[in-house]
Amino acid sequence: MSVITPAMTDLAFQQCINPSCRATFAVGQTCFACPECGDLLDVVYEWDRLPVPKRLSEIEARWSDRLNPLNFSGVWRFRDLLPFAPDESIVTVGEGQTLLQTADKVAQYVGLNAGNLKLQYEGMNPSGSFKDNGMTAAFTHARMVGAHRVACASTGNTSAALAVYCSATDFGFKAIIFIGSGKIAYGKLAQALDHGALTIQIVGDFDDAMQRVRQVADRLNIYLMNSVNPFRLEGQKTIMFRVLEALAWEPPDWIVVPGGNLGNSSAFGKAFIELKHLGLIDRVPRLAVINAAGAKTLEQLVGQGLSWSNGLPDATLTQAYYDKLDADNLKASTIASAIEINRPVNLKKCLRALDFCDGVVRQVGDQEIMDAKARVGSGGLGCEPASAASVAGAKRLREEGIIAPSDRVVCILTGHQLKDPTATVAYHGTDQENFEKVLGSRGVRRAGFANRPIIVPNDLDDIIRTIALYSEAQAKGGKDA
Ligand code: F0G
Repeated sequence: MSVITPAMTDLAFQQCINPSCRATFAVGQTCFACPECGDLLDVVYEWDRLPVPKRLSEIEARWSDRLNPLNFSGVWRFRDLLPFAPDESIVTVGEGQTLLQTADKVAQYVGLNAGNLKLQYEGMNPSGSFKDNGMTAAFTHARMVGAHRVACASTGNTSAALAVYCSATDFGFKAIIFIGSGKIAYGKLAQALDHGALTIQIVGDFDDAMQRVRQVADRLNIYLMNSVNPFRLEGQKTIMFRVLEALAWEPPDWIVVPGGNLGNSSAFGKAFIELKHLGLIDRVPRLAVINAAGAKTLEQLVGQGLSWSNGLPDATLTQAYYDKLDADNLKASTIASAIEINRPVNLKKCLRALDFCDGVVRQVGDQEIMDAKARVGSGGLGCEPASAASVAGAKRLREEGIIAPSDRVVCILTGHQLKDPTATVAYHGTDQENFEKVLGSRGVRRAGFANRPIIVPNDLDDIIRTIALYSEAQAKGGKDA
């Protein structure tokens, strides 16, 4: 296993994904859209001239060298598969120590055979979401190009991760984050504030903030950390590498992921395109991208027939959809605030991923999301609402017969349970007014899997009687163990 040297990084470059443009740029250039045509950029590699492992299992050798921070990182131990940075430039805070958990109770809920549902828990990252996988790579690039001020628009997790990487490292990074008003869950806002980010709240939603941050980054020459940054997606490819690693390099049948700005799904597609090209896997899993019903641009457009079309998807369909959103003044709205996005910046790359991975797209409602979230919580690792969209989506695809009970399914739990305590407490709590405010107002009618707190007088006998009644109900199967 080799060290990535500066000379090797000359074998990486940036390239426009538009087949009628295909302009290329050096890794050392900073551009967040193709300067020639405005389309998205990829990081591409001259694999033939790079020392790629012959088998993925070779990477396991790095486990024995975990005192080396690059081998400890769950992103950089795979650095041969994202070799754009010399080892000495890498910025890491120990991200990617995540877990693939077999979740049989959740499998039962989804309708899968025992053993067949795994939850990839990205909440174990230092900032509590999958974003750290991308941030470590984008910060590495920012360091390579000498950037200091870094910015993003965010529904909360990107900003939390950005704030962590600025505050936990010593390379002079300064965080500027843009958020919509009232649009960010408290756990995430708390992180941005606690880690000292300059936090700019604008009147508007994520889509508005995204548009603004691009203008500001351009005008003030600030390094942009959103997933239009192709280096972010290089880091996020490693989520798939870790899933494969945990499955002894045997690809599952399905990867199910929530879709917001569509960075993750795009990165997963790129990971599989490259692994297949390199002969490191012989079978590609199918990809399911799950939108929230209140933010369903991808689902709608794919439903209307939008597809990758060899890199030239029908732009008129997308434009007509956005024009209609504007005409009807339709804003994204879902309890899964992390994916409350109507104009996903990575739409095109996601279409490529769907094309390569024989993908499907579904939308799930807030009721399904909250119920699935409660089942995830009671049957495994807790997650935030957006993450539970993956489980709700898997259940929907099972019901439709697209996923079979015997299929091996991996749902990505993108963010930690504590990111959004408001939604969780409203669902389980006894305060009806709070339920109505947080969930009822969004059309959630019942908390079917609520684990209600029990209010008991501060009296020993009452408490003991309550526990006895509870245990009796549990023994009869009335309450979850
Ligand atoms: N799940 C969580 C917990 C997220 O925070 C996000 C995105 C997604 C899913 C969707 O991922 O954008 O790659 O499709 N959050 C961004 C943010 C937009 O600003 O934190 P995607």
